[in-house]
Amino acid sequence: EVIYLKDYQVPSFLIDQTELRFELESERTIVNAKLTMRRNPDCQQKPQGLELHGDKALQLYRITLNEQLLNESDYQRLDEGLQIFTVPDAFVLETQVEIHPDQNTALEGLYRSEGFYCTQCEAEGFRRITFYLDRPDVMSVFSTTIEADKSAYPVMLSNGNPVATGDADNGRHWITWEDPHPKPAYLFALVAGDLKMIEDQYTTSGGRDVALRIYAADKDLDKLDYAMQSLINAMRWDEQVYGREYDLDIYMIVAVDFFNMGAMENKGLNVFNTSCVLASPETTTDAGFQRVEGVVAHEYFHNWSGNRVTCRDWFQLSLKEGFTVFRDAEFSADMNSRTVKRVENVALLRTAQFAEDAGPMAHPILPASFIEISNFYTMTIYEKGAEVVRMIHTLLGAEAFRKGSDLYFSRHDGQAVTTEDFVKAMEDASGRDLTHFRNWYNQAGTPVLAVSDEFDAASQTYRLTISQSCPATPGQDTKAPFHIPVAIGLLDSQGEDLLLSDGEAQITTQVTTQVTTQILELHETRQTFEFSGIAERPVPSLLRGFSAPVKLNYPYTRENLTFLMSHDSDGFNRWEAAQKLGVDILQSLIKDYRNDKKLILDKQLAEAFKVVLADESLDKAMVAKVLTLPSEAYLSELAEEIDVDAIHHVRNFVRHQLAVQLETQLLSTYQACTCDDTYSPDAASIARRALRNVCLGYLLATEKQEHLELALAQFHEANNMTDSQAALNIVVHSGYQKAAEVILEQFYLRWSHEPLVVNQWLSVQASNPQAGTLSQVKALMQHDAFNMRNPNKVRSLIAGFSALNPVNFHALDASGYMFLADQVITLNNLNPQIASRLVTPLTRWKRYNTERQEMMKAQLQRIMDSGELSRDVFEVVSKSLA
Ligand code: ARG
Ligand code: ZN
Repeated sequence: EVIYLKDYQVPSFLIDQTELRFELESERTIVNAKLTMRRNPDCQQKPQGLELHGDKALQLYRITLNEQLLNESDYQRLDEGLQIFTVPDAFVLETQVEIHPDQNTALEGLYRSEGFYCTQCEAEGFRRITFYLDRPDVMSVFSTTIEADKSAYPVMLSNGNPVATGDADNGRHWITWEDPHPKPAYLFALVAGDLKMIEDQYTTSGGRDVALRIYAADKDLDKLDYAMQSLINAMRWDEQVYGREYDLDIYMIVAVDFFNMGAMENKGLNVFNTSCVLASPETTTDAGFQRVEGVVAHEYFHNWSGNRVTCRDWFQLSLKEGFTVFRDAEFSADMNSRTVKRVENVALLRTAQFAEDAGPMAHPILPASFIEISNFYTMTIYEKGAEVVRMIHTLLGAEAFRKGSDLYFSRHDGQAVTTEDFVKAMEDASGRDLTHFRNWYNQAGTPVLAVSDEFDAASQTYRLTISQSCPATPGQDTKAPFHIPVAIGLLDSQGEDLLLSDGEAQITTQVTTQVTTQILELHETRQTFEFSGIAERPVPSLLRGFSAPVKLNYPYTRENLTFLMSHDSDGFNRWEAAQKLGVDILQSLIKDYRNDKKLILDKQLAEAFKVVLADESLDKAMVAKVLTLPSEAYLSELAEEIDVDAIHHVRNFVRHQLAVQLETQLLSTYQACTCDDTYSPDAASIARRALRNVCLGYLLATEKQEHLELALAQFHEANNMTDSQAALNIVVHSGYQKAAEVILEQFYLRWSHEPLVVNQWLSVQASNPQAGTLSQVKALMQHDAFNMRNPNKVRSLIAGFSALNPVNFHALDASGYMFLADQVITLNNLNPQIASRLVTPLTRWKRYNTERQEMMKAQLQRIMDSGELSRDVFEVVSKSLA
């Protein structure tokens, strides 16, 4: 059944107060709910009865209405809910149900993770706990009592503040929590178990003392300090940059092993995937540390952008997610290197989100319809949503944007609102007209800009002409032009930025300021921008900082690109020039390879890399990024038809050539970056390790034994996970099979007691491009280290193979496709959310040649025909076959 945004109606009833009582027993949990309800004065209809959401699996014991026991003629069970035939205008409804957290493998609602009870209610998990109006525009004050065995569940948590506690019979105890802030059910949380915690304290700028507690299993207690420091930094940052303060006396985070996504912003009680909160130098890579910092901040920022101001309905998901991703990205940029963070975000967007925009599930950041909302926690809603907020920031400027966010938060505090309300607040506070900009919310697809230029020496005029187009997406054949901020600079032949007049500054301040980066505002299908007083033909630096989520084509020569690589004042575009040069060279070699021509690498790339390697003034993190060739995923995204084998072969060929040509420089950079300081996840140290490991990767591409020894030494001597895992990965993926087997075994023996490290071990093997990986993966599914019910294991091993190992996944005997379909069919019953995410690589069949297309479609069809499908899997598979 398809749900449409246009069908939105306000709720007929409201729930002023929700009183819950959970009795956690060994085989079952009893949930008592007391709802104080009344008709919604804003609702035109006055239905006689009441319909509540509620999962089929809820076992209903009793219902009372204003303390009168209802009998079976007063109500009926619906497919996914409960209908009470007649209710007064205001009433108290009490229900009692039994649920089975132990059997909950979908990990939605109340479930068990390694002995801990925990909940995941977003988006529609609360209806698996009790009958309710499970929609975000119904906000209620919650009080929650939990009762359980005292020795097995000494810690029992819910939202808000603890207000009462006591002992009960049979060695049991209870606690009551009250959350004073009205909230939708999706922000409800409950946790119970033998959890340990670390505690700190934070005083808000307004003087509120907040207890900060992070809970985890005893064995992980030593891995919580980084999350705590990140939380404190995020709280300070949100006060300084957005003027947002925390609003309860306690803030809790709980780490659990079984979790479908990264983390959840439940009011005052975040539940986190261990992978996004635990960190220690021995077990966590630099990327892991940065993920912890970013996700802790993301969930904290949701307290305002999500909880205090929430979504009216789930079509508005990007209202909170896009804005919050933008906020956490800016936080990470401020804490670390801004340019590096931007490069990483853009690389992710251009591979994963652009591919989604070009696939069968393409949707605007404000979708018009869905079958299953869980399928819309996407790169588009999150990452493109963040880019859209970033463009508003760019168009308005930091100051007006802050006024807009202040207005948004004050105008809508305590409300459930729409993306339109957000844009309106930005308009009202800034005086800017964003009418045309709104197309970004309703149109899917990645716009393509074609840029051309001309220089007229006589009149000293330079003209840039920009055309835009956007490919058709499902249900949207033609698109109106977008309002696109294109940040540009012009470089003279010395590599200096030319001074440009800033059009915006002229309008708002009546003074012409001279700037070197100008925001061109593209509205039309085709527009020409003129620059006067330009003495010589400049080299344009286009889309600085990736000012819009678009593809941009301009006929750069390879000379232009090497020039920009070393001179552009915009750090992002220096990297982008290197990527463009790499793409250009790789694409022409891919063409040669497909035409059976001999491959010869153009000198330009090695020369450009040599310059970069020699320049000690550069940020090592950026050097590492520049030296990294465009990924197979990015080359695939850019290809007209994806030739997996050609891309893989040619990229390896170029890596080998570069390694041979630059061996001396790579080795000396490797050595210069070697240092045995105690580990620290600061930007400079991360940069040093990143560059060192990029060099190591190239060195092994020379296929010289001495470099293998170097990698093995690094593996054995590293005092941190970043270096040891990088060495492991490089050795395994370089095809030194004997050495690989030995160190994989050693690594496992050393880390078998650390699930998150074991996950890395699984994914290093699953993503191995060497032959024979699929049978390895199948064998690993029988290993103790694997568990089909744990999403982190599934992601590491199965998605590690299907999403990170294109050559093996796309094997021409269809073995990879069949394997994936088998796993999707199994998971469809166990965990529909994970199953539907796993299908993604198969859904992209249109991008490959007909032979692969047919094989991929056959497996999608096999899933379709495999029996009763969850809504999640059905939506993705049926849309891909449509
Ligand atoms: N709101 C959470 C976040 O972005 C993610 C929600 C998880 N949703 C789900 N359907 N499992 O931080
Ligand atoms: Zn979020």
